[in-house]
Amino acid sequence: MNNGSKIKVLFVCLGNICRSPLAEGVFQSVLKSYNLEDAFVIDSAGTSNYHVGDLADDRARKVAKQNGIILNHRARQFISQDFTNFDYILVMDHLNYDAVLSISKDANDQQKVFLFRSFDETNIDDYNVPDPYYGGDDDFIEVMEIVSRASHGFIKFLEQDAKISIA
Ligand code: 4NP
Repeated sequence: MNNGSKIKVLFVCLGNICRSPLAEGVFQSVLKSYNLEDAFVIDSAGTSNYHVGDLADDRARKVAKQNGIILNHRARQFISQDFTNFDYILVMDHLNYDAVLSISKDANDQQKVFLFRSFDETNIDDYNVPDPYYGGDDDFIEVMEIVSRASHGFIKFLEQDAKISIA
């Protein structure tokens, strides 16, 4: 399958060192469990340039590793070209949502942007994946659980939208 026919998904947070690399790693492992890895191109980015070039935060890498996921991503900043390169831009909170929309060009760009937590079926709150940066290990575990549920929910959404089929 060439890249043109793949589903291209970009996960976005503020720093691209905590939530979005975790979301990317978890989504990749969920895709693998469905044997769907080849059907997707995935990446992550931050709306800020604070940590460009950095590996994910040690606490994010630790919680990922405890779940069998190795995070090798290096942080990069979200750029307007990402609207062209990706089909789905899944943002971690409302601040990221506003930052991404502020550099969108048109309705076609805007309809690609979703709050990732809107795919977490247990969410009854505000659709934010809480920022764990100033928190502790427990906050990273919570993020891990949220992005795992949201990953499954997003795959279900794609299936209902006939973008993929799950055997
Ligand atoms: P992330 O977390 O957006 O989930 O990667 C943060 C990382 C860094 C900062 C804030 C949030 N920071 O202020 O440097």
